[in-house]
Amino acid sequence: MAAKELHTADEFFPERKTLPAFRRAAADCQACDLWRRGTQTVFGEGLAGARVLLIGEQPGNEEDLSGKPFVGPAGRLLDEALAEAGIERDQTYVTNVVKHFKWEPRGKRRIHKKPVTAEIAACRPWLEAEISLVKPKVIVCLGATAAQALLGPKFRVTKDRGRPLESTLAPFVLATVHPSSILRAPDDETRHREKRLFIEDLREAASLL
Ligand code: URA
Ligand code: SF4
Repeated sequence: MAAKELHTADEFFPERKTLPAFRRAAADCQACDLWRRGTQTVFGEGLAGARVLLIGEQPGNEEDLSGKPFVGPAGRLLDEALAEAGIERDQTYVTNVVKHFKWEPRGKRRIHKKPVTAEIAACRPWLEAEISLVKPKVIVCLGATAAQALLGPKFRVTKDRGRPLESTLAPFVLATVHPSSILRAPDDETRHREKRLFIEDLREAASLL
């Protein structure tokens, strides 16, 4: 049996190198099998020339249904934390490493499943196009999936969070936790502490602008 052919998103790239053209092209992407499971491609959204670009893992349930990144519970926490750090969400560009919601059924619910390396690699050209068109000064990786996709598989958010690193992708890349991890905190005290630390990391990003 022939090995399964690997596709990458750049096979679906548009002629015109603009964000709206990329967004339209991404809507038809079939570079990996996740397009079969998700409702729609959730492309990044925000200010075209934003100085801060934030990257999550993949759309969740509400993002999959609305077609917009970070609009569910994690997005609301992100908005609040950004505002507290002095960054307005509408001054940023927000996207994900993987543009389709990966899930499996559990009863009536759709449960988030982590994307695998091949899916991350297939989808990566969309992210690279977004970064090269937005040209942010600071990239903020939200959680390990984004941090490892941009900074390498050895990167540890727990150890190196909040520290601006040099990168070829932008003048500064900084990683912090994923807002969903704060929502999953076992008790209120932990949640408050985690939220404070998250805001501190975002303040560090704000200080670089
Ligand atoms: N979690 C993510 O990583 N991205 C979203 O867009 C929503 C939740
Ligand atoms: Fe294309 Fe990314 Fe969706 Fe896979 S997850 S089909 S690569 S947009």
